[in-house]
Amino acid sequence: MKIKINKIKALFYNDKGAYIKECDIYINGNKIVSIGQKPEDFAADKIINGNKKLAIPGLINAHTHSYMSVFRNIADDLSFEDWLFGRINPLEDKLTEEDIYWGAMLACIEMIKTGTTCFVDMNMNMQSVIRAVTDTGMRAVLSRGLVGKGNDEGGRKRLEETIDAYKNCKNDNISFLLGPHAPYTCDCEYLKIVTDTAKKYNLGMTIHLSESENEVENIKKAHKMSPIELMDKIGLFEAPVIAAHCVWLSDNDIKILADKNVSVATNPKSNLKLANGIAPLTKMHDHGINITIGTDSTASNNSLNMFSEMNYTALLHKGVTHDPTVINASDVLRFATKNAAIAVSNKNLGEIKEGMLADITILDIDCPQFYPENELVSALVYSAAGYETDTVIINGRILMENKILTTVDTERVYAECERVIERIDR
Ligand code: NI
Repeated sequence: MKIKINKIKALFYNDKGAYIKECDIYINGNKIVSIGQKPEDFAADKIINGNKKLAIPGLINAHTHSYMSVFRNIADDLSFEDWLFGRINPLEDKLTEEDIYWGAMLACIEMIKTGTTCFVDMNMNMQSVIRAVTDTGMRAVLSRGLVGKGNDEGGRKRLEETIDAYKNCKNDNISFLLGPHAPYTCDCEYLKIVTDTAKKYNLGMTIHLSESENEVENIKKAHKMSPIELMDKIGLFEAPVIAAHCVWLSDNDIKILADKNVSVATNPKSNLKLANGIAPLTKMHDHGINITIGTDSTASNNSLNMFSEMNYTALLHKGVTHDPTVINASDVLRFATKNAAIAVSNKNLGEIKEGMLADITILDIDCPQFYPENELVSALVYSAAGYETDTVIINGRILMENKILTTVDTERVYAECERVIERIDR
């Protein structure tokens, strides 16, 4: 399909940062083919009116667990350990493949409605999430959460499930990472096996690292080094890695992350809610680390709204450092788009630019929080709620238009999610 977005204000990047310019955007098939200049013989099948709208590159959620959407508001105001081991893990054990599908569907609906076009997922069942991503038309980078000891059967099976999905998935909108869960759920031998497998198949990895103070203390007790130092010793960072959280870091940890080109997915709301602390993001930024933003799951956030997450990312570090000039709106938008595209090794994502994949979020800015129109870059980070998202295009396909989803029966998904939680917890 050929789409023309007519006279729309759009977000672009140059060396100085993000800026807004009004233009026409031309999409042919799954690509942006021109900005401004009408391509020869371009006859649009569909024209989107850009009046009082703002186009931005689709946001990329760099760390979540989509299936956990069924656990929204089910385990709040608990310590990290009580939350994970006492409440979430026992509930997870009751989930069927079908439950995981409905949870992922709910996550996709929430993400599309708040302008996210791609997400990095760590899940419990690859096929269920592949189905949800395919049914909704989203873009996703999927990893099966890997937990294992040495060469144990469970760990081997989970790894095989990932490789099997990687080899057989026919959806071009889906790519894969290996997802070793964390240094406290995978032992060193298993982490080495996972790393060797990543190298063999040329895959990246994603892992939770240095999320809680307890985790860092326990790893230090057992290994005489920090989780980051341990991962470096194991050789994990020789593959492209997205490290989620990275809250408790020493200067040496930051140096390792920078030297090894590790991308960091910061999850400010999850870290606050579970009282895990605040990541040293300004320091990481100063060291040139590729920073991205994730929501983590709805069980620890409790939403998948990247606008809210961008807002926290911008505000939090000014407060902590007592310096309002750090981590500005333009930086944060870059974290959620261009940097995330680098993290998932997709050169064709993260910008509205000729030749890039057509993943575009269009906001309706005819609402009080966008008036007066002084600086739209700031408005996106400091004023937007996320639900201004009006139209979402992913891979050249319109998945939401005038706030109506085109691929999903939302009422059915809501009802199925209620049924899941009714069965396992009420
Ligand atoms: Ni997580």
